[in-house]
Amino acid sequence: MAETTTAAAMAATNVTMSYRTRRGDTVVALDDVSLDVRRGEFLSLIGPSGCGKSTLLYILGGLRKQTSGEVTLEGERVTGPTPRKVGFVFQDYTLFPWRTIISNVEVGLEFRGTGKRERRERAERNLDLVGLGAFANAYPSELSGGMQQRVAIARALSLDPDILLMDEPFGALDEQTRTVLGEELARILEKTGKTIVFVTHSLSEAAYLSDRVVVMSARPGRIKEILPVDEPRPRGDGFSTSAAFNDLRNGLFDLLHEEVRAATLAEMNPGQASGKGGGRRG
Ligand SMILES: Nc1ncnc2c1ncn2[C@@H]1O[C@H](COP(=O)(O)OP(=O)(O)O)[C@@H](O)[C@H]1O
Ligand SMILES: [Mg+2]
Repeated sequence: MAETTTAAAMAATNVTMSYRTRRGDTVVALDDVSLDVRRGEFLSLIGPSGCGKSTLLYILGGLRKQTSGEVTLEGERVTGPTPRKVGFVFQDYTLFPWRTIISNVEVGLEFRGTGKRERRERAERNLDLVGLGAFANAYPSELSGGMQQRVAIARALSLDPDILLMDEPFGALDEQTRTVLGEELARILEKTGKTIVFVTHSLSEAAYLSDRVVVMSARPGRIKEILPVDEPRPRGDGFSTSAAFNDLRNGLFDLLHEEVRAATLAEMNPGQASGKGGGRRG
């Protein structure tokens, strides 16, 4: 895939985001974030809770407007959502309980005005891809959490975006299920060649799935480090037990630990939390 992972599919340049809270305070969620997402790559974002991972994803997808800086999609400035090119999968799968699985997958296409036959075809194809073809006529309540999340992935894929932005998509699932779903996702990506930006708090998941892992600092979110994962995808069986995997995971742990510590101390001493990471002095 080397030649397909060179060009930037999407880029954030000097993106800063401040929120105004209801009390009238300003929260700087992202501070001068610049990041290229390469075409065909699997890019993970990790960082302490509240460091702006979701905010960055929403801004990349045009769902929220940054305070300053710029986002481009294939060189064009992003000013709003572009559902034909960029899809989302969120942590809570938000299926409509009164619709069957297949008609849940068709929702986005229906919205887009795609004809009935094509809608059905695409939905069937993508349900098969996530291994749920047999559940087309079931209702969400009949499926486990892991299965519902696969439906959400099928729904996003059926819109055929080039880029998928995934915000802790397996966050609500148990460890075994998320491991299997991670492997499934890797297999699906191999087939479809999508570009993925993936927020996770699981270091193993990030190390196993990614081409590069972006570690963000405690709020205000900045890019602390970007670690490449030098192992071809899809990863072989031995990768997750290899020394290289272990080193990478430990490296991520250390980087993240520093930031979580800074974030926790900042929460405990809000008065001193204005500086970089809010870390304790002296
Ligand atoms: N709509 C909002 N209004 C005010 N503050 C917000 C809003 N959304 C997020 N924030 C704040 O911005 C910071 C980053 O949030 P978020 O992007 O959700 O972080 P993460 O996904 O890394 O946990 C947090 O301090 C959060 O409280
Ligand atoms: Mg989040």
